[in-house]
Amino acid sequence: MTVRNCALVRTILAAALCLAAADAAAQGKLKVGLMLPYTGTYAALGNAIENGFRLYVAEQGGKLGGMEPEYFKVDDESEPSKAVDNINKLIKRDNVDVVVGTVHSGVVMAMAKVAKDTNTLLVIPNAGARAVTGPMCAPNIFRSSFSNWQPGYAMGKVAGERGAKKVATITWKYAAGDESVEGFKDGLKAAGGEVVKDLTLPFPNVEFQALLTEIAATKPDAVYAFFAGGGAVKFVKDYAAAGLNKTIPLYGPGFLTDGTLEAQGAAAQGMLTTLHYGDGLDTPKDNAFRASYTRTYKAVPDVYAVQGYDAAQMLGIGLAAVKGDLAKRSELVAAMEKARIDSPRGTFTLSKSHDPVQDIYLRKVVGTENHVEGVAVKALADPSPGCKM
Ligand code: PHB
Repeated sequence: MTVRNCALVRTILAAALCLAAADAAAQGKLKVGLMLPYTGTYAALGNAIENGFRLYVAEQGGKLGGMEPEYFKVDDESEPSKAVDNINKLIKRDNVDVVVGTVHSGVVMAMAKVAKDTNTLLVIPNAGARAVTGPMCAPNIFRSSFSNWQPGYAMGKVAGERGAKKVATITWKYAAGDESVEGFKDGLKAAGGEVVKDLTLPFPNVEFQALLTEIAATKPDAVYAFFAGGGAVKFVKDYAAAGLNKTIPLYGPGFLTDGTLEAQGAAAQGMLTTLHYGDGLDTPKDNAFRASYTRTYKAVPDVYAVQGYDAAQMLGIGLAAVKGDLAKRSELVAAMEKARIDSPRGTFTLSKSHDPVQDIYLRKVVGTENHVEGVAVKALADPSPGCKM
């Protein structure tokens, strides 16, 4: 085939894809790309997000804003180096209308760049990277979860108020851990404490022994740890096995104990964490959500399920406002920006940078529950430095 023919074929193919997408939209179909981790340390988080998303759609009679979703899935493996190729599979190969993803902050930063360049609608159902609603913020990028700074800030405030003056931190060395610790430091400082040691290890490494020995030698008043999924299970168990939980309280953002308590068992009992969701909220909305989720999946929902459910809600509000006419992008975005989301966590709104403005709860581990003890910080908004929109 000549070069000229090749170019012609490519143009024809692109046009055909475009027509196919327009045709799908005209028939009220919505192509949803799910880019989530389905393997690795965050696999359970990805599955819970998808479950939550699908549950909301099922509750709307299988529709989202009147449109029928058709799903295209990619396992992102929480691997930043594969992120650009993975999101392009959804955008260029599958021609999706919207991408929902992901969990890992390093992966989401690469996704946001592609979404911005291609003007693809992106709803982030977990990853808290501040950059995507900071310097990279854009009209087509929304988050239904949190910013890494939010739960960290609340935990710092609580730890300081509880008398922690000198604290050690430990996390995986990547954006989520760094930013979570940054939020913790801001909250702790405001409450009169300081961080005396920062410990890190590469994601998703779980060889904690040497670092636990260092914590024991440092003898801080408390430890703040950011881990999640399989890594959180192992860290909390190793911390208790080293006997550290008897003398040095272990604090963290709620990811440290969310969706993990069955596996952590006795090691997690009594731990205090901060998060925008928890067990025992006992509101009509949350009770209905929990009953419906448990009936459908034979599992108790966690924060990740809530974030997936709310990603669908946010999108549904935008789609309903334009009656499924995806060409009316600015109206769709305006409706999402104005939305009050009736979340199981409690109603929340979005900041100018498209991050949830939400209450952060203080929770205590009792049995297999992260029991809500109260609100640690009310209506907390990430200041979103660098966002100009
Ligand atoms: C993140 O990478 O932003 C992240 C991952 C897992 C969590 C929370 C944040 O539970």
